[in-house]
This record gives sequence, C-alpha cells and structure tokens, in this order.
Amino acid sequence: MFTKFNIANFEVENRSVRSATATATCDLKTGIPEQKFYDIYESLARGHVGLLIQEHSFVSLRGHAGHKQFGIHTDEMIQYHKKANDLMRAANDKIRICCQLAHAGPNGGAANKIQINEATAADFEEVVQQFKEAALRAKKAGYDCVQLHSGHTYLLSQTISDFYNKRTDEYKASDFKLLRDVLEAVRTVNIPVGIKLQCDDFIEGHSMNAVSACKIISALKFDFVEVTGGGQGVAKYSTIRAGKDQYYYRHVIQEFKAQNLLDKQPVIVTGGFENVEDAQMAFDDGVPLVGYSRKFLRNDQFLIDGDTKKCVRCNQCIGAIYKGQDAHCTISERERQK
Ligand SMILES: Cc1cc2nc3c(=O)[nH]c(=O)nc-3n(C[C@H](O)[C@H](O)[C@H](O)COP(=O)(O)O)c2cc1C
Repeated sequence: MFTKFNIANFEVENRSVRSATATATCDLKTGIPEQKFYDIYESLARGHVGLLIQEHSFVSLRGHAGHKQFGIHTDEMIQYHKKANDLMRAANDKIRICCQLAHAGPNGGAANKIQINEATAADFEEVVQQFKEAALRAKKAGYDCVQLHSGHTYLLSQTISDFYNKRTDEYKASDFKLLRDVLEAVRTVNIPVGIKLQCDDFIEGHSMNAVSACKIISALKFDFVEVTGGGQGVAKYSTIRAGKDQYYYRHVIQEFKAQNLLDKQPVIVTGGFENVEDAQMAFDDGVPLVGYSRKFLRNDQFLIDGDTKKCVRCNQCIGAIYKGQDAHCTISERERQK
C-alpha cells in the first residue's frame, strides 16, 4: 500500500486515496471558501495521502447541492481552487489532486433544479457544456485530474439508473447518453478524467448494479473508476452506512474481476474502510487503490501517526452539514476540548 501507482500521465506516491468529502466551509451562495477550508486541505496534504480528491464542486448554480458547497461554476472560482492546490503542494510536493465535478440534479437545492424525466435535450446539452467549462477551469487551477461525480443519486447517477430514469428517448438509462456526452466534452479539455461511479443502487430488480457498472466502464474509457453506491429512501443501503459493515463493494469488485476489468482499468474502491489493515482485503482482491472519507475526518494524519482514533461511523459528520455546520467529527472535537 506504500508503493507507487500510475494513473494516466501521472504517478501517485501510494495507494491511499482521500475520497471526496464535502467540508461545507464555503459561502452558501457564492461557493467561495472560508479560511477554514484552506486549513483543512493543508492539514490533509501533510498526512501523506497519495491522491486527494477534492470535495464536490458544483458546475452550475442549477446543480448546487444546497449546502455550503465549493463552486467551479465561473472563471472567478479558478483562483480559489489554485490557492488550495498551491497550499497542498507546498505542504506535500508529491500529492496528486483531483477536482470532483458535480451536478446535484434532482437532489440539489436550486429552485430550477433538473428533474431527469422532464428535462429537455437543451437542458442536458447545457449540463454537458457546464462540465466541459468546469474541467477547463480545473485544468487552469493546476489539478492533476478531474472526477465526474456519478454517484449518490446526483444527476449523472440518476440518468444511468432505470429506477430513477424512466425516459424512453435517446436519454434512456441503458444508453447512458448524458454520461457519454459529458465524458466526450470533458475529454476535449485534455486533462485525465476519472469517474465516481454508482455501482449499486441497492434497489431490488433495478440497475444500477455491478453488471451494469461493468457495461458502462467497458463502453466508456475513463482514466480511473472509483466504486461507490447506495441511495436514499427505498435503497437497502445508504452511501454512508452507520455501523460496522466493512468493504461495502466487495461484490462489485468480484464482478470487475470476473470481467477482467481490474487488469484494464485503474480502480479505487471506497466505503467501509477504517484503516490500512482493513484496506488489505481490497488489495488482496487485486484493487490497486483504496479510498477513505470519514476516517480522514476522524484523523487526517492516520496514514502516518500510528493511528489510534477509531471512526465509529456515527455519521454525525454528515449530520453536521445538514445542520448548517461544517463537516466535522464530533468525537475528535470532544477530545480536543478535554
Ligand atoms: C461528510 C461527508 C461528505 C461527503 N461528501 C462527498 C462528496 O463531496 N463527494 C462524494 O462523491 N462523496 C462524498 N461523500 C461520500 C464519501 O466520499 C464516501 O463515498 C462514503 O463516505 C463512504 O466511504 P467511508 O466509509 O470511507 O466514509 C461524503 C461523505 C461524508 C461522510
């Protein structure tokens, strides 16, 4: 896990990935970071993570998630992304940084949010353009790569799921046209492109599931794929499960293996890993990179400090965001106050 690995045209120093994690430390309306945002990322960079995937940045106000999210929707935002990247690289000159491009779609907070079954082709074409422009901004801000957020019932993930997407036109779920168009548009920017892909909605009898994920990965060429899943409401599991489950997507990795995708495609698996010992289960399955989200909130130095701070998966970190606070670990906060 402390060996190097190549993704597209760059090398990552080790196999640990900080999976995108909203800090909710940006202005609610403008998406401009507060000082706390920079402090969080500088500290994360010092923790020797190989690839740091920034929190989701909204590509347009229509795709805003509704909390204190980072923005990449205008050229003015480039300077804030660059400032964070420069700080991280000064703290760790080997770090690789990825910009996560997101459109919350039906899940967002905008008054005119996109509903996938009612959207027009013009709505979707506008989204494609917005992802392309955001990728260009990410390139100008000095990121090593971008990641399309196609998970967690955000816009792209809903369009590839026949549970959410009931369309029968060219945008029907099985054709994944919006995702294909976004990828093609972002490719013209000439920056490595990965995806955080919904690989299981956990809704009985419907895509997305491991088999449909393999179909998408085989049809579209991404520089890396991060495995995720889970949903809301009817879904059997949430993305951010409470409790002790480990390695949430082993069944997806087994399907990738059965279809020989692990040999052809750099893969990150995220979900349910508490520490590097846990991650060994995924490395043993042949997965090259393992992602962590909540663990970095609990202890952003866990890769190098001999970690004793357990994340108990109480999910109060994400709960804080919905209360209008920044995403923080309440256990660590209490420990600091002692
Ligand atoms: C506070 C919080 C914020 C998150 N923000 C994002 C995000 O911005 N983008 C994203 O793709 N996933 C986000 N996630 C999901 C995580 O990246 C990850 O997929 C999930 O938490 C499972 O990984 P874990 O078990 O290591 O926490 C977030 C999770 C948490 C707890």
